[in-house]
Amino acid sequence: MVPKISTLGGYIFEYQKSITNPTGFWTNIAESFYWRKKWDTVLDWNFTEPSIQWFINGKLNITENIFERYLFHRGDQPAIIWEPNDPNEEFVTLTYHQLFERVKKFSNVLLSHGVKKGDRVAIYMPMIPELPIAMLACARIGAIHSVVFGGFSAQSLSERIQDAGATLLVTADGGYRGSKTIPIKEIADEAMDHCSCVKTAIVARRTGEQVNMVAGRDLWWHDLEEAASPVHKAEEMDSEDPLFILYTSGSTGKAKGLVHTTAGYMVYTAYTFRNVFQYSDGDIYFCSADIGWVTGHSYLLYGPLLTGATTLMFEGIPTWPNAGRYWEIVDKHKVNQFYTAPTAIRSLMALGNEWLDGKHLGSLKVLGTVGEPINEEAWHWYHDHVGKNRCPIVDTWWQTETGGIMISPLAGIIPTKPSFATLPMMGVHPVILDANGKELHGNSVEGNLCINYPWPGMARTIWGDHKRFRDTYFSTYPGHYFTGDGAKRDEDGYYRILGRVDDVINVSGHRLGTAEIENAINGHPLVHESAVVGFPHPIKGQGIYAYVVCTEFSTGGEEGIRTSVLKTVSKFIGPFARPDKVQIVTGLPKTRSGKIMRRILRKIAENQVDNFGDTTTLLNPEIIDELLEGAKRLNGN
Ligand code: WT7
Repeated sequence: MVPKISTLGGYIFEYQKSITNPTGFWTNIAESFYWRKKWDTVLDWNFTEPSIQWFINGKLNITENIFERYLFHRGDQPAIIWEPNDPNEEFVTLTYHQLFERVKKFSNVLLSHGVKKGDRVAIYMPMIPELPIAMLACARIGAIHSVVFGGFSAQSLSERIQDAGATLLVTADGGYRGSKTIPIKEIADEAMDHCSCVKTAIVARRTGEQVNMVAGRDLWWHDLEEAASPVHKAEEMDSEDPLFILYTSGSTGKAKGLVHTTAGYMVYTAYTFRNVFQYSDGDIYFCSADIGWVTGHSYLLYGPLLTGATTLMFEGIPTWPNAGRYWEIVDKHKVNQFYTAPTAIRSLMALGNEWLDGKHLGSLKVLGTVGEPINEEAWHWYHDHVGKNRCPIVDTWWQTETGGIMISPLAGIIPTKPSFATLPMMGVHPVILDANGKELHGNSVEGNLCINYPWPGMARTIWGDHKRFRDTYFSTYPGHYFTGDGAKRDEDGYYRILGRVDDVINVSGHRLGTAEIENAINGHPLVHESAVVGFPHPIKGQGIYAYVVCTEFSTGGEEGIRTSVLKTVSKFIGPFARPDKVQIVTGLPKTRSGKIMRRILRKIAENQVDNFGDTTTLLNPEIIDELLEGAKRLNGN
């Protein structure tokens, strides 16, 4: 088990050690895992190519560090508690032993369908136990999993499958989310129509609805699992062999497939999980994220299971059948640590405190948040009403790229401050730079957040495009990893994350590139051009505001275009990326060089009516009045 820090003095001491002697520090942590062969060199790196390698020439399998390592004393302990969407359906508990049996069987299923070490397996599933089983089976045989969130459209799924070159897809007949049934297989079928690389699809049964099974391609999970042998020896992996690819949005172009490798990711997620949440043996830990996002990968699945924890996985949504669903789960399973997103907290807060009444939340010890800045009001509500003033809140800042938590309190150890992620994790060296790349030393400074030194959990490349990896993260400020976030270091040296400084927006904790939404909108035949910006939204954090240039309308007029723009975005990306506001315009404010002046669009979306700054470089300054008029009508004021 990785060591656990238990005092503030311990944190300060260990943090110093991790910065002055990072390789010594991480050697010590890595020693607590099971290696087939230990590494020769702890770290080799440069941020110019960039090239980052940890635990060089080490040999291991991450699933041996979950199963074989724990089996003697944890075989009968619950590994995963699966809570279904419908509270009237029975929950399922998989002990470490039972989960291991199913993972080994599914490993054999994958092998018998020709999946080899290094092959990519795409996973498009609802939140059912077969999802983590499929991921762990991939890891066990050395296949690289690429999980695509079940809310993405066929188009997005097929782009991701093709980019990764996946040969096998694991999916399900359908999924439940609140009162809705999602036709997962139908969407997967449409995606597979456009990707010839997928030879086999394995379909888990969840809803029991009639689905189209293509002969020679589609197979039922349960038939295969039943026939499979439970004997399987894990593949030997190199420390730097890829473990998974996970796609995320950037400020330009299509989604990027971030690549995480085996050993560094394992060491980092296990260490941060145990220390941030202060997990103790026997605790029940509940992370509400979907496994399709990095939070689900690192802190629903890998971090907890590598710690021998019991992790609770919930299929449904916080507001169905009512807004007390999370608290009912906490009460029913006696949850000790609960990790969710600010957007969920804000939406539950808005629905009233009565949903907490009668729920016994006394088991809770730690509350966590992730994915977007948490406003003070939401922080206090969470602290006072959910945590009853007894539970520390860990506001954890990190990214798909970082693999694990980077800046966060250690629960109960680092004193918290509402809306501050507080202090860096062991081995993390944050710096704040001004627009010219000059480092701002000392406290009470604000600027662009960068990281100075590699940490084991960081992504190593973008799948198939190392140049893009360098250009995106290592070229803005040479010698530093650039996060894309703005941050402030206050008078106490505490970090507060201010949000993205690039064209990425964060909507209900979902990360979206404005360019990808624009591309989707531009797919509409009557749209000439569009520009998307974020605006402050009381529940979602940021809402999506789309300016759509359109001069010719079909029969439905402006309203008709609005509706079909929303449909287009659903089709190209997924329903969660639909704009909150669509303003139809005749043009966009552009400079003489043809650049859209987004600053003006942001201000108008924020309901500001003047102070547009210098507009002398605008080619068409008269457009501002039209935009303001239209915005007024749209907002009804
Ligand atoms: C972006 C990364 C990390 C897992 C989920 C999101 C924002 C994340 C916080 C926080 C303020 C946060 C940042 C970051 N973000 N956590 N605690 N406070 N902002 O992963 O989809 O890769 O998004 O989420 O802007 O860059 P992601």
